[in-house]
Amino acid sequence: MQLNLDFTGRHVFVFGGTTGINFGIAQAFVRQGAQVSVASRRPYNVQAAVEALAAMPSLARSPEGAAAVHGVCADVREFDEVGRAFEEAAARFGPIDVLVSGAAGNFLCEAKAMSANGFRVVVDIDLIGSFNVLRQAYPHLRRPGASVINITAPQSAVPMRYQAHACAAKAGVDQLTRVLALEWGGEGVRVNAISPGPIEGTEGFRKLMAPDAVAREAAVAAVPLQRFGSTDDIANLALFLASPYAGYVSGAVIPCDGGGALDSVKPTLERAGQEDAAAA
Ligand code: COA
Ligand code: NAP
Repeated sequence: MQLNLDFTGRHVFVFGGTTGINFGIAQAFVRQGAQVSVASRRPYNVQAAVEALAAMPSLARSPEGAAAVHGVCADVREFDEVGRAFEEAAARFGPIDVLVSGAAGNFLCEAKAMSANGFRVVVDIDLIGSFNVLRQAYPHLRRPGASVINITAPQSAVPMRYQAHACAAKAGVDQLTRVLALEWGGEGVRVNAISPGPIEGTEGFRKLMAPDAVAREAAVAAVPLQRFGSTDDIANLALFLASPYAGYVSGAVIPCDGGGALDSVKPTLERAGQEDAAAA
């Protein structure tokens, strides 16, 4: 069997798709011929993403060219704004074949030092924002046939220090994934989630990974595959999940982490900190 991951003529919407992991996913779908919409809060991120996607060689060669990319500014915390973003994109490219919901915010902070607003802001973006995206996308999803992919994180299942907000929010994202797989399966919509490990070069990696070389070495050593991930690693899984090869996969939360979650918890600061303490 030859794998065909051609998404020509398909509409792929990546919420939070202007930087990092999600932008890597948007790039992969452009490469595979899709019409891609990206959305996030900051106009300069949206503009830069649209320009970079439009300049990709696969688009420069296609008759559709830059017209195959659409960008829109919207904050996932604003339900109506999110709805307008989908309306605009669907008016341009038609029903959504693939929805990626990956907007998130995070910072490291001990629970006892975290303000109520600090906790709320992460839950608002990661969990309530995911609901807003999924709920507002629903009328525009191709039924049957759409594939929905949420971007979760290892914190959804594995407790991590300084991550009370993100642990709680991403656990909610996993359950939202499973519930919507139950509710939407009958209409031919598959709902899954990808749980990335530490992905080098991204904002999440910069924020959560210990900055010094020794800690990084310990963090790599904690990954069974002995390397950090790349945005391509995640994008490849997204392509597969969106394709007919995953036609019987729904309600799954799939780690893409080099096996990191198996080592109960610690590809990040926590392991590095403990090992430093043990060595001292
Ligand atoms: N430590 C402790 N509290 C922090 C904090 C930190 N490093 N960063 C923000 N907060 C608190 C703020 O103090 C504020 O609470 P307060 O009003 O009680 O003082 C609350 O969080 C909201 O901060 P604010 O900066 O107003 O929120 P925002 O909506 O502008 O930004 C964030 C949201 C904080 C999540 C911001 O980091 C962000 O936009 N992140 C997106 C990118 C990202 O995190 N990517 C990685 C994905 S894994
Ligand atoms: P990132 O580059 O900061 O990506 C976050 C994206 O979401 C940006 O495009 C950002 O753009 C957008 N966004 C943030 N808040 C938003 C809001 N309120 N409304 C709309 N868009 C918003 O971070 P990343 O590290 O690549 O993370 C991407 C996803 O992977 C997240 O879901 C994260 O939890 C997950 N993840 C990352 C890692 C990792 O190692 N990096 C590991 C596990 C899981 P704007 O600022 O323009 O809004």
